Amino acid sequence: MAEQVTIEKNAPKALKYEQLLSQMVALVGEETDHTAVLANAIAALHHGFKFFWTGIYMVKGNQLILGPFQGPVACMRIELGKGVCGMAWKNKKTLIVPDVDKFPGHIACSAESKSEIVIPLKNRDGEVMAVLDIDSNYLNTFDQTDAVYLEKICEYLSEKLV
Ligand code: SME
Repeated sequence: MAEQVTIEKNAPKALKYEQLLSQMVALVGEETDHTAVLANAIAALHHGFKFFWTGIYMVKGNQLILGPFQGPVACMRIELGKGVCGMAWKNKKTLIVPDVDKFPGHIACSAESKSEIVIPLKNRDGEVMAVLDIDSNYLNTFDQTDAVYLEKICEYLSEKLV
């Protein structure tokens, strides 16, 4: 197992994500336990990019339930269609929110969270199994580059969950 994740601080964002993904694949290796895989993947992403909050919510029945995360404590259950996470789950699509105060129904786990991106993890039938939620304490943190690379990361993690 790789023991540390290193990302070039001043590299362009796309390159940082490429560095992260290849190290994440090495870090996870042949591990198949879902919690172990997600916990280390989240830690690598969170500390690699120094996000404010990075975590997974798992679909369980008609709710999302808090899974492995890094950052301040967070709400534990989210209903389908509620908040950014619940909307990304319902629409089965990545959601970028440049200013959380302008997103109707945003669930504020922390007043410090200013912008957010949520990416669904889907099984082979296209059903959402979980969502990856990343919060920033700055406005306008996430763009299409984040969406493209985080979707790749989520595809990789989804394969580990099926
Ligand atoms: N803001 C999210 C809730 C989860 S926390 O950000 C960790 C939402 O609106 O769904």
